[in-house]
Amino acid sequence: MTHNPKNTYHRSVTTMIDAERCIGCGRCVAVCPKQTLTMKDDIAVVSGSESLNCDHCAAVCPNEAIQVTAVDPALGSFQTFSADTRWQAHGRFDTASLVNLMGSRRSCRNYSDRPVDRPLLEDLVKAGVTAPSGSNCQPWTFTILPDRHAVNRLGRRVGDFFRKTNRMAEKRWLRTALKLLGKPQLDTYFHLHYPTVEMGLSAWDGGERDLLFHGATAVIVVAADNGASCPSEDALLATGNMLLTAHTMGLGTCLVGFVIEAMRRDRSIVRMLSIPDQETPYAVIAIGWPDEAYYRVAGRKPVVIRYAGSRDTH
Ligand SMILES: Cc1cc2nc3c(=O)[nH]c(=O)nc-3n(C[C@H](O)[C@H](O)[C@H](O)COP(=O)(O)O)c2cc1C
Repeated sequence: MTHNPKNTYHRSVTTMIDAERCIGCGRCVAVCPKQTLTMKDDIAVVSGSESLNCDHCAAVCPNEAIQVTAVDPALGSFQTFSADTRWQAHGRFDTASLVNLMGSRRSCRNYSDRPVDRPLLEDLVKAGVTAPSGSNCQPWTFTILPDRHAVNRLGRRVGDFFRKTNRMAEKRWLRTALKLLGKPQLDTYFHLHYPTVEMGLSAWDGGERDLLFHGATAVIVVAADNGASCPSEDALLATGNMLLTAHTMGLGTCLVGFVIEAMRRDRSIVRMLSIPDQETPYAVIAIGWPDEAYYRVAGRKPVVIRYAGSRDTH
């Protein structure tokens, strides 16, 4: 399953309308975000020159008269479970179950050695891409590190990056000089992350514990094409879907921000994974069979909620 980046800005119309089947209800025209379709002589016709290829028209047609050929039908079927492709009406899905699922997903930091089968990893990606994306660009790509060998290789490379960073951060004169030059990042890093990283590196070197991926047996790096309208949002929305889906599959996950940081500062780590230069990684998901269990769902700190603009605000 590969994503063709050339299609990210695919705006050409791939909508096919079977005039024989069209009953002239006009629902496709009402849901079209790009005015690609109009009604002519009580039949839906393609009149616009551009399309988001969002597939709304085909999904809303009561008589299966429309097909959007840019859409990959293979993404609707999964290898490890059978998906219901019928649309759930607003208010039909059980809110309590969904909120319970979201609260039950926890960052997993203890995994068993059992590998995760590739079909599960591929199904996770398919679940991920049900997410919305800016202008329906779908600019996401998914790089799968399917086993511990691949995860360790990335871990060693990221370890080398942080070892170098820590050696630099130890130099007080360098931190001070950079701060005077208006670059306080190394000093901030020293105070916030140096001790944790030092501990992680010595645990890794001593073969004691993997504090980076927590022993996960697979990793998926979610990246997105830089030219998309909202690449970071798109990649992270897909990631959120994947975290929830993984939980339903019995898998544990943990986002690993340390690796994203290393990739941001050292592009050679990204290249090592054959991720092309026009893409930016936004999430690194550690995945594996969990070796931990909880009794209760996530607790959260107090949240800021504000109303704005309403006549009733004051
Ligand atoms: C952007 C991001 C980066 C994160 N990076 C790490 C990480 O490097 N290592 C780690 O153990 N957890 C990491 N986490 C997990 C957070 O610590 C975790 O989400 C938070 O403590 C809340 O716990 P929960 O995910 O179990 O609800 C990251 C989470 C996010 C959203």
